[in-house]
Amino acid sequence: MGDVQRGTSRELIRERLTATAVDYVAHMTTKPVVLPAFDVGFVRSQFPAFGHHETGRWAHLENAGGSYVPRQVIDLVTDLFSNHKTQPSWNFAPSRRATEAIDRSRGLMAATFNAHPDEIHFGPSTSQNTYVLARSLRHGWNDGDEVIVTNQDHEANIGSWRRLAETGMVVKEWSVDPAKGMLDIADLESLITDRTRLVALTHASNVAATVNPIGKVAELVHAAGGLVVIDGVSYAPHYPIDVKALDCDVYLYSAYKTYGPHVGMMYTKRSVLESAHHEGHFFNESHLSTRLTPAGPDHVEVGACGGVVDYYNTVHDHHFGGGGSQTQVERISDVFGLFGAHEQVLMTPLVEFLTGRDDVHLVGSRSTDHARRAPTIAFHSGKVSSAQIYEALIAAEVSCGYGHFYAHRLVTALGLDPDDGVVRLSMVHYNMLDDVERALVVLDKIL
Ligand SMILES: Cc1ncc(COP(=O)(O)O)c(C=O)c1O
Repeated sequence: MGDVQRGTSRELIRERLTATAVDYVAHMTTKPVVLPAFDVGFVRSQFPAFGHHETGRWAHLENAGGSYVPRQVIDLVTDLFSNHKTQPSWNFAPSRRATEAIDRSRGLMAATFNAHPDEIHFGPSTSQNTYVLARSLRHGWNDGDEVIVTNQDHEANIGSWRRLAETGMVVKEWSVDPAKGMLDIADLESLITDRTRLVALTHASNVAATVNPIGKVAELVHAAGGLVVIDGVSYAPHYPIDVKALDCDVYLYSAYKTYGPHVGMMYTKRSVLESAHHEGHFFNESHLSTRLTPAGPDHVEVGACGGVVDYYNTVHDHHFGGGGSQTQVERISDVFGLFGAHEQVLMTPLVEFLTGRDDVHLVGSRSTDHARRAPTIAFHSGKVSSAQIYEALIAAEVSCGYGHFYAHRLVTALGLDPDDGVVRLSMVHYNMLDDVERALVVLDKIL
């Protein structure tokens, strides 16, 4: 084991960095620019994983794959499995408790979208939610109608739509610039016609991480009479979502990447939901909340989703004081303001270190502005394989991954072998600068 794994002091770690990397780390450490009051120690104390004898040793930079879970969610899972694991909706006490937990989750999770609880579906995953949605919406379209997908998205928001070609729909691709992996809205304009029924787009790709201009896209697509379906899976862990401001028709994210259980969250605008073909059991047709959920959900996991918002509220109380007349949506937005500022501090040295090298290609925007790119840093080297970089990082107990991350089309469009693909280091608000430093030491050595 090297120095890093033994938990060497910051000074020693810095000695091993090149001058460039030292500058960035020192700069960010001595000038924590925004919201210095963010209490990362408090935040980490909410996550049992950091106190675990083995897990706690790792610099966890594989958050885009799945985040750790705070005690608020774990407590709900434990309580629901231990005490209320009954079928909900009956009028006996344990069943009533199960129903209450699910209803409570629905209300709280709706606030994470700034939506009405009726517009929320809990599905097994985002991939399954798009699959059901595509099947449902197809009923309202004619053969020859068009859908537009990107090649920047995770396959979850491409494949379900592409399959509609088998049913007589025309599928068009809005393609990335192969040098940068970014989308240009002018290319979309040239694809839209009066037969465009839907555009499926990521809010921030799980590899390119650049924040796409959803409002502008929605304007263009709505002007042509189409719908906009947004995959927010890689966006939601980092920013507050406001489906009203975005004016999208469908917004999806996966709660297991936003500190919750393995549940796929889907908002569908009421007008779209009301006209969507019913995919649930025929006798439930009048229930909007089951319209796009043919399978019975995992009640415990759904009931535990509310713990995510309980966690946000705990963070809010700690930083802003309890009580107050704010709405739940406003409290979530405050908390994400803190998260974003901290994430900006975390990602800056890494982005600048990578973009400062000629032999490394960072996918997506080179900006260090959190408003423009999420702290999901995917890159490849002209000299060292992604597999080798990954091996070196995990040897230093930096959790990360490499390959295509199911953004297979994007990685292929970049001209890469999807099996080796890119190395991805993805941070969230509970990471510390120490985690980034540990990764930088390794990268400096191996690159
Ligand atoms: C951007 C993005 N979209 C969609 C998905 C798929 O989510 P799920 O596993 O819930 O189907 C992922 C998962 O990694 C993702 O990163």
